[in-house]
Amino acid sequence: MPVADRVDVSPALRVAGVLRVPGDKSISHRYALLAAIADGRSVIANYAPGADCASTLTCVAALGATISRTASREATDPPLVTIDGRGVRGLRSPAAPLDCGNSGSTMRMLAGLVAAHPFLSTLVGDASLSRRPMRRIIGPLAQMGAAVTAGPGDRPPVTIRGGDLRGIQFAPETPSAQVKSAVLLAGLQASGETVVIEPASTRDHTERALPTFGAEVTVSGRRIGLRGGQRLAGREVRVPGDISSAAFWAVAAAALPGSDVTITQVGLNPSRAALIDVLKRYGAVIEATIEDEWHGEPVGRLRVRHGAAGNLVIEPNEVPEVIDELPVLGALGTFGGSVTVSGAGELRVKESDRIAELIAGLRAMGADAEERADGFQVRRSARLAGGTVHARHDHRLAMAFAVAALGASGPTHIEGADAVAVSYPSFFDDLNTLADRGGSSGARA
Ligand code: S3P
Repeated sequence: MPVADRVDVSPALRVAGVLRVPGDKSISHRYALLAAIADGRSVIANYAPGADCASTLTCVAALGATISRTASREATDPPLVTIDGRGVRGLRSPAAPLDCGNSGSTMRMLAGLVAAHPFLSTLVGDASLSRRPMRRIIGPLAQMGAAVTAGPGDRPPVTIRGGDLRGIQFAPETPSAQVKSAVLLAGLQASGETVVIEPASTRDHTERALPTFGAEVTVSGRRIGLRGGQRLAGREVRVPGDISSAAFWAVAAAALPGSDVTITQVGLNPSRAALIDVLKRYGAVIEATIEDEWHGEPVGRLRVRHGAAGNLVIEPNEVPEVIDELPVLGALGTFGGSVTVSGAGELRVKESDRIAELIAGLRAMGADAEERADGFQVRRSARLAGGTVHARHDHRLAMAFAVAALGASGPTHIEGADAVAVSYPSFFDDLNTLADRGGSSGARA
């Protein structure tokens, strides 16, 4: 059922239960993009159900890959996504602009894919994506030989006339897995070697997915190298649960006394799992157990129980590995202790200005919260009252406010709550399943 644009969330005593969360968004994008330029057929199980990953499928279909969906053998799984790839440098010229919707990952990584093709592509997005910076991909792709232009301030739309690319050595100023991946996807289709040297480690799903589809990648610390001209082969793959979606329940369980939540079949890739250390530092009791490996991605179960509520400081060097979890970690500061984040200026150029909008929303609920140039501080001074907040068309803000609302004394009205459809369409259903409200009702549209 589609989520209403306004949802009321009432407080909860605790959260408890066992659940799976939707397939990982980052991994789903990568599998779809690689499948599109692989030889032959790929079948992706547990593909992320949100609008962002649907945008990637729409775009690769517009570039000539054939996409079909069929019912999964597992009743609890979303449909299987089958992609018939067109081979490296085999995409077709799109008839219309490629609509990346709300998805920065789609736009940036797709740019790397089309840059190696001898046709014109125009990448467009919604109002939020149209405000996000694209200089970070334009620079390296132009250096590799593509002609790339964008709107004022290097914002979308991005127009790319691709062609024969040459490999480069690239050291981005800002750590970004999207940019690293765009350059590696272009490098795969370029002549010579491409090397990315990261200023700080970021999620490494592309480095793990490329070998899954048959390409050789060399990783040595923060240096990632790849030889151009390698072919990819279609594969059957399964996407682990998204730890960034699990994060909302992990934080809620850490926050509310008596909570006990277990998330199964969740991705536990070390480049995404810093949240676990962070919540342990706050005082949560956590068991993370790797049970399997799916195509190079560790998968397992994550059990989170409330422990103590400490003063949590997230340092700049930790930021890239918890970048998507920072809004909900801000919400954690309203339950007890405090949460202080610095070195996270990147949050200002996400789906919204996540520093300004997070702090505005938490304050509207009664929080003692302070915005800083490159971060924020949220302190517990009294129990939140609840109130009206606006998600600003940002999925992670909508969900972070919903978690904060569990600890308030009154209800919270979330405007723009339908944004959860970007990454976690069943978020409010899962919230109602997990929340123990001592008999009263929960989130209502
Ligand atoms: C992502 C990388 C991160 C993250 C985004 C997904 C990815 O963005 O915030 O949600 O899948 O590579 P940046 O590369 O801009 O840091």
